[in-house]
Amino acid sequence: MVHERNPISNIQTRLKNPNSIIEKMRRRGFPLTMESMEKNVMDIAGIRAVCSFVDDVYFVAECLGNQDDITILQVKDYIKEPKDNGYRSLHMIIEIPIFLQSEKRFMKVEVQLRTIAMEFWANLDHKLRYKRDIDREVEKKIEDELLECALLSADLDARMQRVRDTIEHGVVPDTIN
Ligand code: GTP
Ligand code: MG
Repeated sequence: MVHERNPISNIQTRLKNPNSIIEKMRRRGFPLTMESMEKNVMDIAGIRAVCSFVDDVYFVAECLGNQDDITILQVKDYIKEPKDNGYRSLHMIIEIPIFLQSEKRFMKVEVQLRTIAMEFWANLDHKLRYKRDIDREVEKKIEDELLECALLSADLDARMQRVRDTIEHGVVPDTIN
């Protein structure tokens, strides 16, 4: 309400299912106990917030950091430093208190913040990742193409951000004639 617009265009939440939790703990070699799970598996609860603009992503991250009951345990900024395949998003592991019948417990939550363009790209990449019957040569071509798309989407994000800045602050960037 303060900013007269919602920086978040869409929120998805998911809980990791028990089989995936166990599979991940086995894969990483963690002991299969409740304590080990709470300590080592940071993404049992996951929240993904999709924003229109890159600025909004950082704004939402800052808002989370300013909440006095939220502790930020880890930040991975794949926007400033994208993964080699082109993946971009801002990841945070946060800890929040939850109030149970007889106690207060701290829970870790994986928060992924990204733009619509990043979401668009990640969804397609995710599809490729789980499509296992692709010929190695074709797969390499698709990866190259996806990397190219990631660069285009980063450029699109930057340009859309500049257009918005122009509308809001009247700054005319060189890309707008
Ligand atoms: P996980 O064991 O998968 O949790 O990896 P990690 O602990 O190294 O965490 P990271 O922050 O790198 O990634 C965690 C999550 O981000 C994944 O479960 C995906 O949802 C998302 N993610 C990371 N890399 C990619 C990628 O290359 N493509 C897509 N589509 N999603 C990704
Ligand atoms: Mg994960």
